[in-house]
Amino acid sequence: NNDGFLCVTCTAPVNIAVIKYWGKRNEKLILPTNSSLSVTLGQDELRAKTSVAVSSDFNEDKMWLNGKEQSIENPRIQNVLKEVRRRARKRLSDSENEADLLLKHVHIVSENNFPTAAGLASSAAGYACLVYSLAKLYGVQGEISDIARQGSGSACRSIYGGYVAWQKGKADDGTDSYAVQIAPETHWPEMRALILVVSDQKKDVGSTEGMQTTISTSELMQQRVQGIDKKMKLMTQAIKEKDFPTFAKLTMQDSNQFHAVCLDTYPPVFYMTDVSRQIIQLVHSINDSTGHIKVAYTFDAGPNACLYLLEKDVPLVVSVVQHYFPLSTMHITGPAVSEYTLTSDD
Ligand code: PMV
Repeated sequence: NNDGFLCVTCTAPVNIAVIKYWGKRNEKLILPTNSSLSVTLGQDELRAKTSVAVSSDFNEDKMWLNGKEQSIENPRIQNVLKEVRRRARKRLSDSENEADLLLKHVHIVSENNFPTAAGLASSAAGYACLVYSLAKLYGVQGEISDIARQGSGSACRSIYGGYVAWQKGKADDGTDSYAVQIAPETHWPEMRALILVVSDQKKDVGSTEGMQTTISTSELMQQRVQGIDKKMKLMTQAIKEKDFPTFAKLTMQDSNQFHAVCLDTYPPVFYMTDVSRQIIQLVHSINDSTGHIKVAYTFDAGPNACLYLLEKDVPLVVSVVQHYFPLSTMHITGPAVSEYTLTSDD
C-alpha cells in the first residue's frame, strides 16, 4: 500500500489529585496558580484510548470522541496539534522523507471506557493520550507533559505513571511548568484506589469556568495558595516514606479545602452532593471505629469519590461501602503507566 498510512494507538490512565490544581495564572498557556500532586491510576478501569493516523488519502484533519465527530477547530486541540507539529518540524527538517509526514492530514479517534466530563478526569486521560500518541507518530522526543498541559492542565500529570507532581513554575512562557514523577507506580505496591461512581452526569460548571470565578471572587483561595508549597513537601515526603496515615490525612484535608474554596466562590460552585457528603462521613466512621486512618476520600470537580487505601483494607472498605451504597459502581485499581502500539501499512 503506497498511501503512507501510519497509525499509533495509545492508552493513557486518569490521574486523581491528592493536592488539587485549581486556578490559572495564564489562561492561554494553562499555567496554574499552584502546584499539584496526583496518582496516575490503573489502565483497565479508567482510561482513554486514542488512535492517531496519517495518510495521503486524508484531505483534512478530523477528530472523533466516543464515536461522534468533534470540531478539530477546538482551540485546545489546535494548541497541542500545532505544538507537536512545530517540534516535529524542528526535528525532521534534515530528512525530506520524514518531513513528508507533516504534509499529510491527521485523523484522531478517541474513546473513554468511563463517563466523560463527570469529574473523573476524562480530559486528563484524553489529552495525555492525544499528546502521547501524536508525539510517537511524529517522533517528538523529550519532555511532552508541557504540551499535554496546554490541552487540559491536569493532563500533564497523566504523561507519567505513579506519583506525579506538576510544578507550577515561575516563567511567563510556561517552560518550567511541567510534570515530574515523584515515585514510580511500583514504589508502593499496596496502594489502591477505589473509584465510587455515584453519578455519570456531565457536571454543570466546567473546571475552566469554575476556576476563573474562584480566582476572581474567593478570598479563601489566597489562603489556600499560601499553604500549598508546604503541603506539597509534606505529601511528597509521606509518599517517599510510604506513610499512609499522613498521605491520607493530607489528601482528605486538601479535598475539603478545595471544596470550601468552591463554596467561597461567588456565586458558589457545588461539585459534591448529599451522597458525596455521606461518603465522607462513612470514611470518617471507618477510620474512627478502627482507631487508625485506613482510608482517605478525595473529590474532583464532580460528586464521584476516589478513595485511597491499602490492599489489606480493601475487603473491609468494599463491604462497608457496598452495604451503604448498594447502587454505586465501584472500580478498584492501583498506580499505573501510559502505553502505546504502532501500526503501519508500509
Ligand atoms: O485540568 P482540568 O481543567 O480538568 O482541571 C482539573 C481540576 C481538578 O480535577 C479539580 C483538580 C486536579 O488537580 O486534577
